[in-house]
Amino acid sequence: MMRYRGLADTFVAYGFLIEFVLSAGCTNWSDMASSEGTQVAAGRPATTAAPIAFVNVSKRYPGRPQAAVGNLSFEVPSGEICVLIGPSGCGKTTALKMVNRLIPMTDGDITIDGRSVNAIEVSQLRRGIGYVFQQIGLFPHMTVEDNIGTVPRLLGWSKARIRERALELLHLVGLGSEDDLRRYPGEFSGGQQQRIGVARAMAVDPPIMLMDEPFGAIDPITRDRLQDDFLRLHRQVRKTIIFVTHDIDEAIKMGDRIAIMRDGRLVQIDTPDNLLAAPANEFVADFVGADRGLKRLRVWTLNDLELDPYSGGALPSATAATSLRDALSLMLSAGATRVAVLGQDGTATGSVSLEAIAAMLGPEPRAPAP
Ligand SMILES: Nc1ncnc2c1ncn2[C@@H]1O[C@H](COP(=O)(O)OP(=O)(O)OP(=O)(O)O)[C@@H](O)[C@H]1O
Ligand SMILES: [Mg+2]
Repeated sequence: MMRYRGLADTFVAYGFLIEFVLSAGCTNWSDMASSEGTQVAAGRPATTAAPIAFVNVSKRYPGRPQAAVGNLSFEVPSGEICVLIGPSGCGKTTALKMVNRLIPMTDGDITIDGRSVNAIEVSQLRRGIGYVFQQIGLFPHMTVEDNIGTVPRLLGWSKARIRERALELLHLVGLGSEDDLRRYPGEFSGGQQQRIGVARAMAVDPPIMLMDEPFGAIDPITRDRLQDDFLRLHRQVRKTIIFVTHDIDEAIKMGDRIAIMRDGRLVQIDTPDNLLAAPANEFVADFVGADRGLKRLRVWTLNDLELDPYSGGALPSATAATSLRDALSLMLSAGATRVAVLGQDGTATGSVSLEAIAAMLGPEPRAPAP
């Protein structure tokens, strides 16, 4: 089944890219693409994010009693990462593919910057959207450089520029010798292929990205690094991103908002902190896990607390960017009830107590410092 799904996705990827090839000859590229990148159909320049809205969207497959997606409504504000999460088969991929019309919706509407995706010419729509397939979907007969360069080539980029961009993106995803550019996808591991898929989706710096379990086949250490790199990049160039994952920890780390789905429907959409603090029902509480209190500590850093003075003595130490969970772990492993907070120059600027951290999780959590 997985194998079949992988092949099916690859065929969809082919169809989608063949469409680029066909449209390249008959499109006035200067209208929507420049040598600097692409524009989404709504006329925004590349790297300028646009809000996405689902309005009562449904997808029903013929002969299936239950809708794959039912009456889905939510908004992703411009420049935010919205994570879609939920059990296998709940409709995440279907929801994602309706945005760039790889799957036609049955009812409702999806808008980008207020404009229905159905009112936008399909190749133009897709040029402004980077898509990372759940099952990778790289072209097996094309080198890594050619895979990453697929859309840039259609946009008329020079060979030298494509090579430079491909190398830059490969470095970003933790690969990237000149040699890698000449290799074929089959010569890489599953996780490496997935990273090349992420690089390909980012090639022309699209303002919108749809990412279907982009880091799913990657080992935890590399995944952590990729997530950090991706978030760092996102802070610099804000895109509007819908990011699908199975992993609640990844959702909490990556999402400005998390949308939890079940049986094609939205159960709750909220910030990671609110979701962990106030799950809407038992399903969400189960999904986020019994350790949701500890997970909340990962959302905050020492910077979010008012510091007590540092009054000397041997304390475990951490920077202000350290998560409360890591600070707690440092205290517990050192047998201490206080952690020193270090400034830029490495000297202690204050301290935080175990009670202050525990108070964040109490029945009336202390609001984090602004
Ligand atoms: N072409 C199709 N024809 C009929 N039913 C389909 C088709 N594609 C998907 N479905 C059904 O739609 C539902 C949602 O599928 P979807 O792929 O969106 O799930 P998902 O949440 O992405 O799951 P996973 O986490 O396993 O990737 C599932 O019940 C699936 O069986
Ligand atoms: Mg899926």
